[in-house]
Amino acid sequence: MTGARTLVVGATGMIGGLAARMAAGRGASLALAGRDGERLAERSRLLGDCPYRAFDAYDLDGCAALAPWASKVLEGLDAVVVAIGVAGFGRAEHVGEAAAEHLMTVNALAPMAVVRGALPALEAAGAVVVVTGIVVDKRPLGAADYAASKTALAAWLGVVRREQRKRGIRVVDVRMPHLDGGFADRAVTGSPPRMPPGAEPARAVEEYVLGPLYASEVGDS
Ligand SMILES: NC(=O)c1ccc[n+]([C@@H]2O[C@H](COP(=O)([O-])OP(=O)(O)OC[C@H]3O[C@@H](n4cnc5c(N)ncnc54)[C@H](OP(=O)(O)O)[C@@H]3O)[C@@H](O)[C@H]2O)c1
Repeated sequence: MTGARTLVVGATGMIGGLAARMAAGRGASLALAGRDGERLAERSRLLGDCPYRAFDAYDLDGCAALAPWASKVLEGLDAVVVAIGVAGFGRAEHVGEAAAEHLMTVNALAPMAVVRGALPALEAAGAVVVVTGIVVDKRPLGAADYAASKTALAAWLGVVRREQRKRGIRVVDVRMPHLDGGFADRAVTGSPPRMPPGAEPARAVEEYVLGPLYASEVGDS
């Protein structure tokens, strides 16, 4: 994995930030993308001034343009991590349309656009690792819109994964368990239910993101 040219989308977040740091520690050449320009610049500085680009999930063309940009600045692209998302809570009838649209845009349409742009940009045997969440398999009451957005993304990734197999591009859907780190407290709508303590973030990112990111075979993930 030394020198693996890797784009991390959501590098300003907890999971994306950890993934970027760990990938850099393993010798990857990084390009970073995130929404918060200041935090992005800071993360880039900490990782040896790697190239970075700010974007917003609502700009779907901008999302699709991230991987081609990374491929240009890194002179090729071997791997992409997508770790953007927002939580949202509340019974379905209490979630406003704007919040519902926000969840679907940030959690499903934007990651899909990033991956759509990445597929032609990736080298053969490349990998796309996208964080969905355990919510795809266990959908709690009071989180219908969040669960629906993540499940839509997971369904889309499942088809894309099969489409890309022959090309040798690995498409990995990471159904991340609940982590410590306050993700649910940053919800765009509603309040999270009481939750048991989450998993330790660094260990989880190492296992669920870094492991499949640099696995060598299509069957490894
Ligand atoms: N943490 C958990 O327990 C957990 C468990 C399962 C799945 N996940 C999933 O993992 C992903 C990352 O979670 P995290 O814990 O790292 O959360 P986080 O620290 O809150 O990071 C969220 C990331 O999403 C980006 N983002 C949010 N709204 C955006 C927008 N409108 N446009 C562009 N980027 C936007 C943030 O960008 P800025 O910071 O630059 O605004 C940040 O990079 C999410 O998809 C989440 O659903 C998390």
